[in-house]
Amino acid sequence: MPPPNLPDRTCLAVVLAAGESLRMCSAQPKVLHKLAGRSMLAHVLHSLAEAGTDKIVVVVGPSHAAVAAETKAIAASAEIAIQTERLGTAHAVLAARAAIAKGYDDLLIVFADTPLVRPQTFAKMRQALRGGQNAVVALGFKTSKPAGYGRFILENDALIAIREDRDASEAERTIETCNAGLMALEGNRALALLDAIGNANSQKEFYLTDVVTAARARGLNVTASIAAVDEVLGVNDRAQLADAEAILQMRLRTKAMQEGATLLDPGSVTLAFDTVLGRDVVIEPHVVFGPGVRVGEGSTVRSFSYLEGATIGTNAVIGPFARLRPGTELSQDVRIGNFVEVKASEVGAGTKINHLSYIGDATIGAKTNIGAGTIICNYDGFSKYRTEIGAHAFIGSNSALVAPVKIGEGAYIGSGSVITKDVAADALALGRARQIEKPDWASLFRHKRKEPGSSMEEPKAAGASSSGKSKDDF
Ligand code: UD1
Ligand code: CA
Repeated sequence: MPPPNLPDRTCLAVVLAAGESLRMCSAQPKVLHKLAGRSMLAHVLHSLAEAGTDKIVVVVGPSHAAVAAETKAIAASAEIAIQTERLGTAHAVLAARAAIAKGYDDLLIVFADTPLVRPQTFAKMRQALRGGQNAVVALGFKTSKPAGYGRFILENDALIAIREDRDASEAERTIETCNAGLMALEGNRALALLDAIGNANSQKEFYLTDVVTAARARGLNVTASIAAVDEVLGVNDRAQLADAEAILQMRLRTKAMQEGATLLDPGSVTLAFDTVLGRDVVIEPHVVFGPGVRVGEGSTVRSFSYLEGATIGTNAVIGPFARLRPGTELSQDVRIGNFVEVKASEVGAGTKINHLSYIGDATIGAKTNIGAGTIICNYDGFSKYRTEIGAHAFIGSNSALVAPVKIGEGAYIGSGSVITKDVAADALALGRARQIEKPDWASLFRHKRKEPGSSMEEPKAAGASSSGKSKDDF
């Protein structure tokens, strides 16, 4: 469902991301922790962009250069406001005072640690401000485990106040309608309301939640908007991060199936925020998608494969146990088998790389066969080099192709070759020791070993012995 269009009202979104996030026990700011391959902050910024905001200000802590950098990477036009002291959520919003003062119709206040809110929900909150019906819209949810959350104090369905868990009475703590934290305020009244909030509470903090009583004291309407609990989960620690990941994975799997992919065991498949699966794609159990993977129609990804940054054409079969790394582009009908790793390589239609290979920085034509155990030696410890293999070529098993090197169309490489020079089209190249054969050597050896008093040891030791015989003398 697309968000309702609200083109007649301008909207400023203030994203709070300055919290200390101590409960994560992490060297990195909480909002940069990832869900389905992208940061919580990125999820929030994308959802806001989809909801159609005109301006975004992200409030960051003084030592959070990485949060500012992520903001700019995701939403170049977003502004950064610094909250130098962490004095609470209302204080944090006021770090964006200059932007709020510009007088947008709607002010949306969202938390970067509440990453699962859908664009439609932002739009619904804004809808409730229309026509001056309400000055404040608070987003809430119902839960049987309300501990830790602010509670909605309701009288005849009207929102009277929000009480923080710490400041709540025993009776108030039993309330199961909780504050998700997010608010929509009428833009031209927002500053007056925010400035009216004090810090007379157990934490000596300026609570955004007190905007409810501030508005009511001025005779303004306040309303609660109730969201599904799986949209408003706040992430304060690693267990909640895992809960949010689980919710997001369920959403992504459902979407993939609705779009026509078969997930044999959906719960065991990990998707990324941007995974694209074509129609009639089959994903077997235990497959992991990192960011940037597209799978074409009719392709199958078999169990225990790990894919990231890869584009797969139609009717391809990948895995089991395949690893596709960034820059992999596979055409239609390609086969990538077990224990094959492909990186930064294009593979032509119908080409097979079925067993135990490393393909890095290569361009491979159509209908080529890459034998078991083929390794592309693309790195000399300093630089990476490219390998080109033409169409209809045949690379014998256990070959090492030392880049940079070109194998012409239709060429054959003998098994076990180390190829260091270009090979012409339709040629046979062999780069391995010539086989020698010693008739009867083995029976002679066995006979000598059995002779009593014989000093002969293993052929290897004999080669190195004082008799001066080389190994080849056997
Ligand atoms: C807040 C709400 C609570 C609600 C809960 C939902 C308040 C006072 N409380 O509590 O009612 O049930 O969210 O998850 O609003 N932040 C700053 N600067 C600050 C303080 C916080 O930027 O000085 C940011 C944090 O980075 C975070 C957000 O504001 O993104 C919420 O702060 P947090 O401390 O997590 O609030 P909660 O205790 O979870
Ligand atoms: Ca929180």
